[in-house]
Amino acid sequence: MKITDKLAGAEETARQYSYIEKAKTYVDELARNLGRKPSCCVITFGCQMNARDSEKLSGILEKVGYKLTENENADFVIYNTCTVRDNANQRVYGRLGHLGTMKKKNPHKKIALCGCMMQEGAVIEKLKKSYGFVDLIFGTHNIYKFAELLVCMFETKGMVVDIWEDTDQIVEDLPSERKYPFKSGINIMFGCNNFCSYCIVPYVRGRERSRSPQDIIKEIKALVADGVIEVMLLGQNVNSYGKNLDEPISFAQLLEEVEKIEGLERIRFMTSHPKDLSDDLIQVMKKSTKICRHLHLPLQSGSTRILKAMNRKYTREDYLALVSKLHREIPDLSITTDIIVGFPGEEPCDVDDTIDMVRQVKYDNAFTFLYSKRTGTPAASMENQVPEEVVKEGFDRLLKTVQDTAREQVQRFLGQTMDALVEEVNDQDSSLVTGRLSNNTIVHFKGDPSLVGKIVPVYLKECHGFYYLGEMQP
Ligand code: SAH
Ligand code: SF4
Ligand code: F3S
Repeated sequence: MKITDKLAGAEETARQYSYIEKAKTYVDELARNLGRKPSCCVITFGCQMNARDSEKLSGILEKVGYKLTENENADFVIYNTCTVRDNANQRVYGRLGHLGTMKKKNPHKKIALCGCMMQEGAVIEKLKKSYGFVDLIFGTHNIYKFAELLVCMFETKGMVVDIWEDTDQIVEDLPSERKYPFKSGINIMFGCNNFCSYCIVPYVRGRERSRSPQDIIKEIKALVADGVIEVMLLGQNVNSYGKNLDEPISFAQLLEEVEKIEGLERIRFMTSHPKDLSDDLIQVMKKSTKICRHLHLPLQSGSTRILKAMNRKYTREDYLALVSKLHREIPDLSITTDIIVGFPGEEPCDVDDTIDMVRQVKYDNAFTFLYSKRTGTPAASMENQVPEEVVKEGFDRLLKTVQDTAREQVQRFLGQTMDALVEEVNDQDSSLVTGRLSNNTIVHFKGDPSLVGKIVPVYLKECHGFYYLGEMQP
């Protein structure tokens, strides 16, 4: 079945709240039959934006009467999927098989799938054919009508599928449930217009849409009033934020507005596309007391020839010039990156260029990925795909360099005292807590659970590769 009515703004929000009430009656009835509150479990497979979507799903599930758990034995399980690389898809199919077995033993169990993978026609066909036990499937564009879809699921026998090709809608003010009480992701924009030739995101997330600065500020103020001290502004390319708004505003200007929010202590953002990182942004970061000293600046490749084929729109020299400007203006900045090895046509000498770049930039960390062919992207139909063993060899060489340079880079603050936001009690040693420095590095130190959610000064005593052991200072 397909539900296609789209209403604008506040009217749609009100409509979804009425569906929340209706879904609640079904969940109440289920609770009476079970003699307990039904449980639900939302599993995130993808990036921070995917994780933020999961918080929205959890917010609605809690409102309609489910008890949230992290156990897939729950009465209702939702997989929020990712399709950026094929291994993400394979993980979903594997785990879904298990869920199907569990459902046979627990027939009232409900299973839903959503997220980026569901925006691919071939995936939906496969699910319909081989995974008929799934109750609800929806995509990335209609997540705001989750309450309505829940009602539809309770009222329908068999699989409910609702996938939209694209949307220009942004529906505000729906509930959400945060994983951490003290920090939160905030979507500032949705979709992507960049069409890097290897990437499926623009196809599954649609065109770029920015939220209004007023809506963003309002949401952050409400979060701060609710105890949040750190926000992460989220978008596939935050540096092009605001360009398509009726009253255009730059990302640097948005940051200046966010900075003014009283009670907010830390601001992070991701992801920055190197081609759009402005001098204004660097100056705003430099002046700011709240913007964290961390920039995730995906490189993808250090070879200008490969960057061109990737449609990244910068050269190796452009990237290096940008990094030296960043180092000059903000000397304590930590830079991290994403790199793909094995893009079609990549030769060992291109990998050498990437390795050289890693040495020059001195990343604090680099996420390295094996190129994964995504159907429908331009790179998938390029003829010069690289053989697996060649990719693997290049990948191993790169990984070794990344590990060596990152270790050296992370330890440069050894012996200093820096502020850390305590995020949790250490899961291996409960006498320790784990905090995050402004530059995103992790530090473990002696402390009790009451510190969680607080920013405290920590002496960085020992560096162990990617993290520190420290001592809290009075
Ligand atoms: N918008 C972000 C990245 C989103 S996807 C940006 O432009 O940087 C996260 C990372 O996944 C990318 O940076 C890229 O390194 C990797 N990635 C994307 N498509 C991929 C593919 N087909 N194969 C391997 N890695 C890929
Ligand atoms: Fe994908 Fe490129 Fe858009 Fe990032 S900027 S999401 S890599 S198309
Ligand atoms: Fe994956 Fe979608 Fe994010 S494809 S990386 S979950 S935008």
